Amino acid sequence: MKETSKTIEVLLQEHRSFTPSDEFRRQANASDPEIYARADADWQGWWASWAEQLTWERKWDRVLDWKPPHAQWFVGGKLNASVQCLDRHVAAGNGARVAYHWEGEPGDARTLTYAQMLDGVARVANGLKSLGIGQGDRVTLYMPMAPELVMAVLACTRIGAIFSVVFAGFSATSLRDRIQDQEAKLVICGDACWRRGKLLDLKIVVDEAVAACPSIEQVLVWRRGAGAESASAGTPRDLEWSALVDPQPALCAPVAMDAEDPLFILYTSGTTGKPKGIVHSHGGYLTVAYATSQLVFDLKPESDVYWCTADVGWITGHSYVIFGPMANGVTQLMYEGAPNHPQPDRFWELIHKYGVTVFYTAPTAIRAFMKWGDEWPAKHDLSSLRLLGSVGEPINPEAWVWYLHHIGGGKCPIVDTWWQTETGGIMITPLPGITTTVPGSATQPFPGIEAKLLDEQGKEVVGPGGGYLVLSRPWPSMLRGLWRDPERYVQTYWSRFPGMYFPADGAKRDQLGNLWVLGRVDDVMNVSGHRLSTMEIESALVDHHAVAEAAVIGVAHELKGQAPVGFVILRAGREPSDALAKELTRHVGEVIGALARPERIIFTPELPKTRSGKIMRRLLRDVAEGKALGDQTTLADSGVLDGLKKEYESREG
Ligand code: WTA
Repeated sequence: MKETSKTIEVLLQEHRSFTPSDEFRRQANASDPEIYARADADWQGWWASWAEQLTWERKWDRVLDWKPPHAQWFVGGKLNASVQCLDRHVAAGNGARVAYHWEGEPGDARTLTYAQMLDGVARVANGLKSLGIGQGDRVTLYMPMAPELVMAVLACTRIGAIFSVVFAGFSATSLRDRIQDQEAKLVICGDACWRRGKLLDLKIVVDEAVAACPSIEQVLVWRRGAGAESASAGTPRDLEWSALVDPQPALCAPVAMDAEDPLFILYTSGTTGKPKGIVHSHGGYLTVAYATSQLVFDLKPESDVYWCTADVGWITGHSYVIFGPMANGVTQLMYEGAPNHPQPDRFWELIHKYGVTVFYTAPTAIRAFMKWGDEWPAKHDLSSLRLLGSVGEPINPEAWVWYLHHIGGGKCPIVDTWWQTETGGIMITPLPGITTTVPGSATQPFPGIEAKLLDEQGKEVVGPGGGYLVLSRPWPSMLRGLWRDPERYVQTYWSRFPGMYFPADGAKRDQLGNLWVLGRVDDVMNVSGHRLSTMEIESALVDHHAVAEAAVIGVAHELKGQAPVGFVILRAGREPSDALAKELTRHVGEVIGALARPERIIFTPELPKTRSGKIMRRLLRDVAEGKALGDQTTLADSGVLDGLKKEYESREG
């Protein structure tokens, strides 16, 4: 049998576990298993040893002040994030090293060195200053994947402004809500970008959002070029990037920020309709982004070409496209568009073209690659790859072995990294030169991190077993809070198990002591690696004039991991129809963004509720997944479910 024609079943048999080769181990940044015990014995000292590798304007007085649930790290220290990412590499003589190879979807390409990035960042920073933006001001970014997005981010950090990136797939309403919540002074946007051969008009979205945002004084517009033009007529608020930035001097002194000053706000879905503004700090966040990049991705700045496919609009793009890799001074690849444009082998073509050595992507993408067919990666020489990563959702063992075999040539270690927007950096992960990995398991807490499993009562589950995952020790990149909502911070993360950080994931520990993160235990679903709140989609549905009531659940989906399904009760006088289902789906896209569109809409005259009126989503999930119905003893009217099952099944074919 030819190597590449092995079935997934055969691969699963062959790769029950994977041990890094001696060759990999010898060159790895971490190869001594003792690293775990050493970090545990003095975890504050361990983190301080990483912080010491950054460039500080003033050293800290104390490593940690911990008044649960509030932590301050590197207290009294002062530093600037852009200096870690740029100045220190240029000062060390590495200014000519490529920071980003960038490729646009139509094939236009640019290469920017660390010196060129520093030059650009200084100009943007000076431009921002000339607009009156200063320390503590909020700047919202709505931009495509381009080096200018990185420049805008680092320019904000250089002058101490708090930046907040909104994923350019979010709707005008979502963008507006975020701008209003943070009372931003300025929006920086791209005019348009390319996605799967289609033009995405970003400026039109920004115009609509900003019309309802009195705090916004100006909108700075970067022109994408390459035929990507916005249909926006322009407004008096608009300012051209080239007009503002190009004439600026290329020197801008960085502001020394307090280690605990907020670095950015990034919104993520919670269990209510309102997204949470996660706040991260300068010192602690950078320390963990830097350390984890170096050990988990084994980065070698002199030789690696690292590619993380995440959009900067998500935390993975913040920590592992910008701050972690740049603080390490490594060369990266950044790509604007879709993996299947013009053909399903675009990623493999890019890996070969740029000689990518370390590749980090999401299970949802890997499952799509599997579906598109083994022949696409097989067309390309991927032998430059030496390490693979996965993030965003549990990776199923089938996708894991496919990734190892068809992308990693059977030889590249895979790091399955568990973490969250709130944790700032990777928390549970293999170390590629040490860990024997098992397909589907994120294995062990990163050195210095302590993770436990707790049962319903909060009692620790020791040895093999399942439970609620908690992080039981503070860590430098923990969120510092929710933007202007201190109560929700305590309530969401620290009240379920007092003194412990509760990420709302369930997990199990196997016989070997490896951790398997199983997924969310709250009303948050994970669609293609993106967090979505059931409540947020429900409010978007109810926002439509035809809808009286809605319940949304995440159901298992072959490619996306999970997909939203909406159960909808219509207002009197409205009739269910396919056209209305389509309209509701589109409406959710308009309110939140395309990523939140329900996979299916099921019209129903009633929803299963408890006697106190709570919707029993668990039962809806059973219906949607065709499972035997679970415990129904608290259900007010059992007839409702039979009707729903019939309705669901009749629509399935
Ligand atoms: C899930 C993304 C299993 C988890 C970095 C978490 C994972 C949520 C993994 C955070 C993984 C992320 N294995 N589940 N390797 N990585 N998750 O904030 O449910 O967008 O709580 O951060 O994704 O999503 P977020």
